[in-house]
Amino acid sequence: METSVNIDWDKVNEIIEKYKGDHEALLMIMQDISDIYNYVPPEVIPVLVEKLGVRESLVYSVATFYKTISLEPRGKFIVSVCTGTACHVRGAEKITEALEENLDIREGETTEDGLFTIEAVRCIGCCASGPVITVNKDTHGGLDRSSTLNVIDEYKKHVS
Ligand code: FES
Repeated sequence: METSVNIDWDKVNEIIEKYKGDHEALLMIMQDISDIYNYVPPEVIPVLVEKLGVRESLVYSVATFYKTISLEPRGKFIVSVCTGTACHVRGAEKITEALEENLDIREGETTEDGLFTIEAVRCIGCCASGPVITVNKDTHGGLDRSSTLNVIDEYKKHVS
């Protein structure tokens, strides 16, 4: 898959200016950039260092600590499987297995075509609906193997 994207620098600078001066600016800027590209492209890191006056190591620390931020390209659709206790006892493992088989990748990986990334996440707060996955910002609950694959098929249709 591609290792980078065409960066809209006007948009990136707009995001930086929006938060500049806030003590959590770096985190919020990286999150907003991730919302656009699904990761923080490496070309952006020196710009953050220069404009915010932060150390490069801090950028890497933020990316390591916050699961929603990645420095590696991720899929157009981020499929996050909740592995919290309630979802675990309701079969989250089988959901992960079904996804891995269907998409032919392991948890933490992205499909060759750059469409899907599978991630494991902790409780996302809708335990009663478990097992639960999110695809980008959409939540899907009460899943079993076949309904999970139906969900994935719907996203595949979006791009075919
Ligand atoms: S344990 Fe999965 S939503 Fe809470």
